[in-house]
Amino acid sequence: MCGIVGYIGRQEAQSILLDGLKKLEYRGYDSAGLAVYNGETIGVKKKEGRIVNVESLLEEQSLLGSVGIAHTRWATHGKPSDRNSHPHMDHEDKFAIVHNGIIENFLELKEELQAKGHTFRSETDTEVIAHLLADAYNGDVVETVQHIVKKMEGAYALAIMSEYEPDKLVAVRLASPLIIGVGEGENFIASDIPAILKHTREMVILEDGEMAVLTDDQIQVMTTEGEKIDREPLHVDWDIVTAEKDGYDHFMLKEIYEQPKAIRDTLTGRIKEGIVDLASELTLSQAEMEQIDRIHFVACGTAYHAGIVGKYALEQLTRIPVEVDVASEYRYRDPIITERTLVIVISQSGETADTLAAMREAQSRGAKVLAITNVVGSTIARDADEVLITSAGPEIAVASTKAYTSQLVVIYQLGLYLAHIRATQPRTEIEKMVEELLSLPLKIEEALKGADILKMLATELARHNNLFFIGRGLDFAVALEGSLKLKELTYIHSEAYPAGELKHGTLALIEEGVPVISLATQAFTYDKMVSNIEEVKTRGAHVLGITTAGSVDLQRTADEVITVPQTLPLFSPVLTVIPLQLLSYYACIARGFDVDKPRNLAKSVTVE
Ligand code: G6P
Repeated sequence: MCGIVGYIGRQEAQSILLDGLKKLEYRGYDSAGLAVYNGETIGVKKKEGRIVNVESLLEEQSLLGSVGIAHTRWATHGKPSDRNSHPHMDHEDKFAIVHNGIIENFLELKEELQAKGHTFRSETDTEVIAHLLADAYNGDVVETVQHIVKKMEGAYALAIMSEYEPDKLVAVRLASPLIIGVGEGENFIASDIPAILKHTREMVILEDGEMAVLTDDQIQVMTTEGEKIDREPLHVDWDIVTAEKDGYDHFMLKEIYEQPKAIRDTLTGRIKEGIVDLASELTLSQAEMEQIDRIHFVACGTAYHAGIVGKYALEQLTRIPVEVDVASEYRYRDPIITERTLVIVISQSGETADTLAAMREAQSRGAKVLAITNVVGSTIARDADEVLITSAGPEIAVASTKAYTSQLVVIYQLGLYLAHIRATQPRTEIEKMVEELLSLPLKIEEALKGADILKMLATELARHNNLFFIGRGLDFAVALEGSLKLKELTYIHSEAYPAGELKHGTLALIEEGVPVISLATQAFTYDKMVSNIEEVKTRGAHVLGITTAGSVDLQRTADEVITVPQTLPLFSPVLTVIPLQLLSYYACIARGFDVDKPRNLAKSVTVE
């Protein structure tokens, strides 16, 4: 989720690259860097932190030249630091590269290259690519690139320059977006349209397995096998604000649609031989993992709701007793913590003050703290004992969407990993679950196809001032998140209830026409859920049922039914939350409120 810019032409590259980076800064701000060819060698300036930091370096000494590449980083492998910043170079400084994505087999490749005498300067997966190029260079940069991509597993968008052939830039793409901007006497590379929109509106979009070779007056597109491709540029007439949102009306909608990718990225590199393997990320020993006798999830807001799913998931998979706490309550309730307690804090930003305070409290009482966070360099990531990163990329909209589903996926991964280590599930079962986990991105894509119907339903829903979400088990956990989303965005009063508990009081509030969004995906409680829906219908409620494809009873009982693809009951929250996110989004539009910045709320709450 980082940003890439490349330039080759007649103007000074530095200002074009810097300007492009600034347009992409919202996509990553852990570090920034530029490489420019000065007529003799490639000069590199890079710095941890925001773009202004590298800009100050350039004020002291500019990079002169008209060919260059640049990058703004959202850290995944290797913490944010000067040396982990891109561009990266080989040990002889002949190749400079910037990279988005993850090279899954980088450790293996690094060891091979080290054995051949290559010395590495960073902890990143990316640096290995520069060394691979230097190692394989045969007098032709394009052929060398085609050769080395065969060795790389994972995802990449790459911009490459070389001192050997400084009159060209090479762009390569696999599973990470990359576009080529067509200029006059100059050409551009970018990971995202806003970076170069000021200079050109003619863009060639690279597909997976394709590359482009750019000179100042030519662009040659080809497959990485070398087969030439004729591709007409696309004319982009977006304004800059639309471009930042990839053409979506709001960041929230963009982020909802980014979920398949966020989950693919979060799964990447963690599945080995059919099971989840977190050994390279966790420092906990096998003995420590075996000794855990209780788990506490601690978080705020949407992350807290992910923790509630976590309780169901980890108890089912590992049989370890799990508690879930709102972070602002946790430290004041004198929780029972021993050295065998694993405290899992969940925080998209990694900066939430309540979560941070709860984490420190747990650590002071001797617990190990494992953080699930989306920001590698955040305070929580730095200070936790263990970290598992969600690779959702920057989330801009205040209402959290892709961070939530990515958090769920990390929780499932952790559960499956512990289940294997502690032998609480047979390996064959774990393999089946992992296979299902891998199918979730496609199933989310399927669930997103219901957007038009949800838009219609949301417009109707937006007329009400009071509504309810009900569900049992994991459906209740998702109901809580659906209800929060609706409150945040539409300011409609809504409550989530365990369906069986409604009759013990809250049922009194159900009257003619009150919308009740009813989730029914859990086979074990399905019949009971259908009865609970009957209870509210009899009192006049208007029921919108959310269930998995093929559930006939609900079709008969509810007024409207939205289906999501089938999956294991344990994983259903990842799919059922999708229609709820879209419903809140469209209801917010119907009520005319600010989607990305709801009133009274902030993305990151750094006060207790
Ligand atoms: C704020 C945001 C919520 C978020 C919560 C926790 O209240 O508005 O969307 O869920 O903080 O944030 P975190 O960054 O710790 O996940």
